[in-house]
Amino acid sequence: MNVRDSEHMIAELNAKEPYELTEELGDADLIIINTCSVREKPVSKLFSEIGVFNKYKKESAKIGVTGCTASHLGKEIIKRAPAVDFVLGARNISKITKVLEEKHAVEIDINHDDSSYAFGEYRTNPFKSMVNISMGCDKSCTYCIVPATRGDEVSIPSDLIVSEIAKAVKTGAKEVMLLGQNVNNYGKHFTANDEKLNFTGLLQKISKIEGLERIRFTSPHPLHMDDEFLEEFANNPKICKQIHVPLQSGSTSLLKAMRRGYSKEWFLNRCEKIRKLCPEATISTDIIVGFPGESEEDFEDTMDVLEKVRFEQLFSFKYSPRPHTAAAEFEEQIPNEIAGARLTKLQARHTEILDEVMDAQMGRVHKVYFDELKAGGKVSGRSDDGKLFFVEGSEELLGEIVPVKVTKVSRGALEGVVCN
Ligand code: 5AD
Ligand code: SF4
Repeated sequence: MNVRDSEHMIAELNAKEPYELTEELGDADLIIINTCSVREKPVSKLFSEIGVFNKYKKESAKIGVTGCTASHLGKEIIKRAPAVDFVLGARNISKITKVLEEKHAVEIDINHDDSSYAFGEYRTNPFKSMVNISMGCDKSCTYCIVPATRGDEVSIPSDLIVSEIAKAVKTGAKEVMLLGQNVNNYGKHFTANDEKLNFTGLLQKISKIEGLERIRFTSPHPLHMDDEFLEEFANNPKICKQIHVPLQSGSTSLLKAMRRGYSKEWFLNRCEKIRKLCPEATISTDIIVGFPGESEEDFEDTMDVLEKVRFEQLFSFKYSPRPHTAAAEFEEQIPNEIAGARLTKLQARHTEILDEVMDAQMGRVHKVYFDELKAGGKVSGRSDDGKLFFVEGSEELLGEIVPVKVTKVSRGALEGVVCN
């Protein structure tokens, strides 16, 4: 989401006057720090980064802080770091050219509605595109700061989504990543029109775009994984067979305390359904350990779900208390050592599972979409099910979808040869 927000800001700036990205801090006229506030660590990093940028930047260069931390700290940022010229919340990025002209502007309105705003064109990678389908979140998970920083959920009109994707396809993208906090809740909160499309309908509409070959999306919510959606996922040939199903915890009572709206059984049932309808699909997840009140038994429930589903990819975090969240006030916060030990155990078991999954890939053939030149005469890309591939090759492979046979496996990536 933040990567796409950054692209939107670059596009808006460029539409006004030409900007160029630079790796040299001393060359920059504008430094934007686009922040995340989901966990505490990046927030503390922000202020040390501002200090470094301020020390080495050109005197005339401006510093802007944008994104979720900007939303929740607002003018506090300028108070703590007067070197900052403007603060722009996650929901306000269309105002980037406006705040540039004001001294110490702070725009953090979480009700600001950008849902029908057509941003300019800028993409980091011409072969892949990211397109927002909704903004904000209508849930209130008790650990999560996002509803406070990105505001209420709004679905973006489907015609705007289609025209964004069509533009990207015209300039070489065969793949789109649809973005939203809860993509499969699409269609519940249109503001400006009377559309009646849900996420399945949107996927069907997008599939008709000529030249678009691959559709990915992130993140769906397990609660909204109804049969209609899972059948569309399994049967629509343009939809990549990789799905993120964020578990958070395997314990039904903890899921309740997290206000996730589903039980362990519902989660397992949805994953079984995915495996049944689409055995080739990879399933990834997010897990939080050390949520307030998590007992050994609760944690064992999480381990049990890992064992049953065997997620190919796991993003796991120690619970981090956040401002504006209910769980930060819960009693029974878990000591850091216990949460740390649980995280280590979870990750160690996942690593074993991943090694088995990747070892089984040896000799298999995947269709890989190549999108990046790498050092040492290599090109990288992703298989339909989301695995990272490296093969020997050059520009002629970029933008192509070709069959590749796996010749070497490792935990993070596969190597292979093109087999025509
Ligand atoms: N502490 C730890 N992890 C969190 N996440 C969200 N809020 C917190 C928090 N307070 C994790 C969730 C979410 C992912 C993006 O970040 O697992 O799915
Ligand atoms: Fe946060 Fe829950 Fe909304 Fe996801 S669904 S953004 S975890 S509140």
